[in-house]
Amino acid sequence: MLQPGTLQDRVAVVTGGSSGLGKAMAEEFARLGAFVTITGRNEERLHAAAQDLLSRVPGARVLAVPGDVRRPEDVDRLVAETKRAFGKIDILVNNAAGNFVCPAEQLSINGWNAVVNIVLNGTFYCSRAVGREMIAAGKGGNILNIVATYAWTGGPGTVHSAAAKAGVVAMTRTLAVEWARYGIRVNAIAPGPIEGTGAAEKLWPTKEIEESLKRDIPLNCFGEPRDVARLASYIVSDYARFMTGEVVTLDGGEWLNKGFLKHFETAPGSPS
Ligand code: HXC
Repeated sequence: MLQPGTLQDRVAVVTGGSSGLGKAMAEEFARLGAFVTITGRNEERLHAAAQDLLSRVPGARVLAVPGDVRRPEDVDRLVAETKRAFGKIDILVNNAAGNFVCPAEQLSINGWNAVVNIVLNGTFYCSRAVGREMIAAGKGGNILNIVATYAWTGGPGTVHSAAAKAGVVAMTRTLAVEWARYGIRVNAIAPGPIEGTGAAEKLWPTKEIEESLKRDIPLNCFGEPRDVARLASYIVSDYARFMTGEVVTLDGGEWLNKGFLKHFETAPGSPS
């Protein structure tokens, strides 16, 4: 477990911070001493999340800046307001995402663009804007992208998201090398099925799908948002100072299981 103070006085920006993984990461960063800006499109949900974070982490310093990562002007405002409030930016988590299940031949151009603009373009707009600030400040920094294992396996039913996440993996590795000279580390986490998230609601909406999905996870359980939050905290902390360009999978072994597991007797129990 990382000690309180591990991220003391670091300034973190978390996109898609109103709920799910984004909110869990913001909370863990705040618990570890960071100042946190969260952003999201729905102003009401965003402010409610900020209030909730303040009540859960006594003494937390949290700023809510409403905005859409698809709009470069919103991204510029996010950066400007964070700097005005906290003076700098040390950490950016590109977590905002959009997704829905739709056969590729039925996907409209708008549907494709909506997801690609959030996931791929939004990640670049935020990385570019924050990266420029980090380079100008000369103190290094951390960018963490949230992807998915279907970035490299492909994702039948979610071609827009899979293609966009694959682009983000390429962006992670490219910027890791380009910006290493500035002391900026760029990494990614590929979470598998995590309960209590927007992805869970959209991708396994029924109990039946949920159970079938669980059978394909070797560790025999879903992840929790705090699993991602703890790994994210490690990656953006100095403990991971030599790690860059890495994509860390956190999926209970799901993507390595080629569907064979269900043909064996499954062992009971969850990991400790
Ligand atoms: C088919 C759909 C659709 C659906 C939207 N569209 N939902 N098409 N099936 N279920 C189409 C619309 O018809 C429209 O095209 C176009 O997409 C844009 O839709 P809007 O609702 O106008 O766009 P917008 O308000 O910008 O919404 C973006 C969104 C939405 C992506 C469509 O779902 C969203 O905001 N989601 C955010 C939350 C989210 O998805 N979280 C889960 C992320 S999980 P037309 O042609 O009709 O105009 C994730 C990784 C999971 O990313 C990994 C798991 C392992």
